[in-house]
Amino acid sequence: LTEVGIGIVGLGNVGTGTLDILVENARQIEEKLGFPLRVKAICARTFDKKQLPELPASVVRTTEWKEVVAHPEVDIVVEVIGGIGVAAHLIEAALRAGKSVVTANKELIAARGAQLWSVANRAGVNLAMEASVAGGIPIHAVLREGIAGDRVIGLYGILNGTSNFILTEIEKSNSAFEAVLAEAQRLGYAEADPTADVDGLDARSKLCILAALAFGEKLTPTDIYSEGIRRILPVDFRYAHQLKHTIRLLCSAQQTPDGLLLSVRPSLIPQSTILANVSGAYNAIWVKGAYGEDTFYYGRGAGPRPTGVAVVSDLMRVAREIRFGSPERVSPFAHDRLGEYRPLPITRYQSAYYLRFRVEDKPGIIAALAGILAKHKISLDAVLQLPLENWRDLPFVITTEPATEEAIRSAVSEMTGSDFLTEPPLAMPMERGF
Ligand SMILES: NC(=O)c1ccc[n+]([C@@H]2O[C@H](COP(=O)([O-])OP(=O)(O)OC[C@H]3O[C@@H](n4cnc5c(N)ncnc54)[C@H](OP(=O)(O)O)[C@@H]3O)[C@@H](O)[C@H]2O)c1
Repeated sequence: LTEVGIGIVGLGNVGTGTLDILVENARQIEEKLGFPLRVKAICARTFDKKQLPELPASVVRTTEWKEVVAHPEVDIVVEVIGGIGVAAHLIEAALRAGKSVVTANKELIAARGAQLWSVANRAGVNLAMEASVAGGIPIHAVLREGIAGDRVIGLYGILNGTSNFILTEIEKSNSAFEAVLAEAQRLGYAEADPTADVDGLDARSKLCILAALAFGEKLTPTDIYSEGIRRILPVDFRYAHQLKHTIRLLCSAQQTPDGLLLSVRPSLIPQSTILANVSGAYNAIWVKGAYGEDTFYYGRGAGPRPTGVAVVSDLMRVAREIRFGSPERVSPFAHDRLGEYRPLPITRYQSAYYLRFRVEDKPGIIAALAGILAKHKISLDAVLQLPLENWRDLPFVITTEPATEEAIRSAVSEMTGSDFLTEPPLAMPMERGF
């Protein structure tokens, strides 16, 4: 069987990881496929200082992505530049030129995946995107093939390695968020601009893609309530541990009779659950099916090689289709046909809550806060207070019985006016639905 030609646009983390694997593991890939994958063209903005594996002189090296798309021997184009501008143009151009595309671009797929898929369908080619969520975990394959026969009722994930690394470092070392972030940046776990990671936006794009695949819904990132991890203090972990919980940036998609509840937010999760043991830069996804019940997937969420494996495995699947043919392809964004579960406002969410207050100590504080909770028909579960270290900054916690997010928000906004608070209360759900 003849080779399938590959063009790679983007030679950063993922592009070089992909190229390394295609070169180093070429023999095994060929054995598994029955034919070779051959790199025909590579593209970046510059080639200086790039450590690339040795490639035949015939491989085109260019700074113009259009040359990769137009190369007659390129059958599949890999888009690993990121962002939504040039990447969208290049993917559309490749699809329209009848070339399948493999991408790692969560931001673009979350925002425009359904539309790009219709371009791919019209052109009769494939758009593979395994690497866009949880780098090394083959979760797309799981949702589209492995458990496709099930009906997903809930999906929970830890989908941002940087936030998870920072949270587990705060937990381990009892250091403040800013210090841990600076260390994560030094070690290369966090980018110079950490906004997308620590404010939950990257995780939101990933949850948007997974929830669309799992529930067959038309979703956009703005359907998902999201909150980052900047406000988490070391003391929150001490209180969480007292409650036999830990704190993670939890991505959650739950089916209810009325629709989908979708959120990305720091949450308390019981220490006894498997998700609580996901530490450092690892990712995990827990899927609950109506028939197959629980399945759990764990692995590296990012990094050149784990993500490179996802790209190369997509390349192999698409190349196999090119060589052996495939049945009519159906977009994984199946909302036109399903449309069962519309996203609901997060105010409908119901959970026990952890409320952390920072106050200047004076008498009557607990009574005042309990009075506000009672007014909003929220039952108090427990009050926790670690020994006093500084009476001007006393963090303590109230946990509540299950209440709606709406009630909690109204209570928190009323509390925020209290003169004894040194900052607005921090509210986190205590997840018990696992
Ligand atoms: N990093 C991960 O572990 C990871 C994991 C999963 C998914 N992803 C996704 O994978 C994609 C790539 O991420 P990355 O970390 O590899 O990014 P990166 O290290 O910043 O690399 C981006 C590459 O794209 C090239 N590039 C940018 N604009 C270009 C243009 N207009 N024309 C040609 N080349 C261009 C850059 O060229 P220069 O080198 O010359 O600047 C660079 O080689 C993103 O969508 C990201 O979200 C990343």
